[in-house]
Amino acid sequence: MSSIPTTLVLGGTGKTGRRIVDRLTARRVPVRVGSRSGAPRFDWSDRATWSAVLTDVDAVYLSYAPDLAVPGAIDDIRAFTDLAVSTGVQRLVLLSGRGEDEAQSCEKLVQDAGVDWTIIRASWFNQNFSENYLLEPVLAGEVILPAAEVAEPFVDADDIADVAVAALTEAGHTGQVYEVTGPRLLTFADAVAEIAAATGRPIRFAPTSAADYATALTDHGVPTDAVTLLTYLFTTVLDGRNAHLADGVQRALGRPPRDFTDYCRDVAATGGWTA
Ligand SMILES: NC(=O)c1ccc[n+]([C@@H]2O[C@H](COP(=O)([O-])OP(=O)(O)OC[C@H]3O[C@@H](n4cnc5c(N)ncnc54)[C@H](OP(=O)(O)O)[C@@H]3O)[C@@H](O)[C@H]2O)c1
Repeated sequence: MSSIPTTLVLGGTGKTGRRIVDRLTARRVPVRVGSRSGAPRFDWSDRATWSAVLTDVDAVYLSYAPDLAVPGAIDDIRAFTDLAVSTGVQRLVLLSGRGEDEAQSCEKLVQDAGVDWTIIRASWFNQNFSENYLLEPVLAGEVILPAAEVAEPFVDADDIADVAVAALTEAGHTGQVYEVTGPRLLTFADAVAEIAAATGRPIRFAPTSAADYATALTDHGVPTDAVTLLTYLFTTVLDGRNAHLADGVQRALGRPPRDFTDYCRDVAATGGWTA
């Protein structure tokens, strides 16, 4: 271990990761981005790239791509945590998802790795509407999803980043499972209506079946693996099992989570939904 311990942020260019990198950098914590565009390059699907990013690393924000539910994720998390611990990592902070059996198996691997751990078990991110696959339909004025009734307590990526930075840099978060949600349950129709109100533009929400959704994604050129994952997320993870609030943000940070309305106001004000 060198004299400059470094924090590795996997998915460090993504929705939570880049916010964590910014926060750690502002605190002058030495940080390394782990992603396919990082230097050195890190690729979950190429284990030859794993050792180099772990050089001098003592803490890891472990965000898996594309999702802990995909085939192979559990093997990857097992192999990566084994390698990380063998190279001197002392703290692991795992970004996990609610209501996914595979994600909970990955949590167990991290909990059993023999080093300090914190689990951040998150609901769906607000930023899926502004930085991910729901941005395009929002800009097009029509969001069609197989999620007619279900309510989800969307959580803000800034809250997740704050929790992660606390867990990576402060005492008192070891051995904690922080189930992080926003402060309110919203249906997708509610969320789209809030975005429309914030932007001042009409945006329609339309429910569809899972089969028609999968067909539409395929016709739109979405790769088969991504279609399978999205269909799984909308039919299994969004079957109502997660339609309840949790107190992880309050417990970790001593403050309430950010409301969806505040997120909408800020994205609209900064041009995030300007076509
Ligand atoms: N989005 C949600 O609502 C949500 C909710 C709960 C949990 N999660 C969990 O959060 C994690 C991240 O998902 P996200 O949707 O938020 O994505 P994201 O972090 O916004 O983007 C994916 C990140 O991973 C990197 N990446 C992609 N493929 C990679 C690969 N093969 N090897 C290494 N790095 C790769 C990307 O950078 P490069 O392109 O530069 O490689 C990017 O930094 C997932 O495990 C997901 O299950 C997400």
